Amino acid sequence: MLVIAHRGASGYAPENSHSAICRALEMNVDAIEIDLHSVEGELLVIHDRWLHRTTQARGQLKDYTLAQLREIDAGDGKPIPTLWEVLQLVDGRCDLNLELKCEHTLIPTLKNLDQAVNALNFTPNQFLISSFNHHLLNESVSLQPKFATGALIASCPIDYAAFAQQLGCYAIHLDIDFINQAFVDDAKARGLKVFVYTVDEESDIRYLEELGVDGIFSNYPDKALRAVKRLDA
Ligand code: G3P
Ligand code: MG
Repeated sequence: MLVIAHRGASGYAPENSHSAICRALEMNVDAIEIDLHSVEGELLVIHDRWLHRTTQARGQLKDYTLAQLREIDAGDGKPIPTLWEVLQLVDGRCDLNLELKCEHTLIPTLKNLDQAVNALNFTPNQFLISSFNHHLLNESVSLQPKFATGALIASCPIDYAAFAQQLGCYAIHLDIDFINQAFVDDAKARGLKVFVYTVDEESDIRYLEELGVDGIFSNYPDKALRAVKRLDA
């Protein structure tokens, strides 16, 4: 079972911050998940469009210029990272899951990933583009099929994983509250991976292992790695 650091190692450092990415890398995670918003064509690594939950600033991303946003502390004494900064920091040492949080994120993300394959130590199969907006995934598959896509859902669809197969996805990223054996079996029969968020409890990990889930998003990736017996510490 793969362990994906959710918003970096966000149980130990401010989510989506430079520090959370560094902590996840130290833990030798399989992959790191980050959330992306687009501002003036640049990609910022932040979950919410409102700033108050994760920073000292008020208002929304759209109330600021990119230059002003880059002055805002992400919670670790460093600016809200850009996608390119995260790509440079990770530099192929683990896989990356880019979650597109709003429209206008897809094209700049594809550009950044292409650049990362050309200029950094990444191969295309290290990237997984995901979103709750399945139109963006559809577009991603037609524009750049070399980058895998993961369909995010927080439900158990009536036709299970059929929609994701139709979209040409590699994986479904499902909320733990909605998973069951029938869903996992259907996804597997369609050749889709199943990744589940957000999983921090060992008993949940045991349950998901029994269901045959392929990976989990965890805020405490070191504990998750230990639970799946892939960490010596
Ligand atoms: O990508 C998995 C998970 O991060 C989706 O929900 O709200 O944590 O971005 P959220
Ligand atoms: Mg996310």
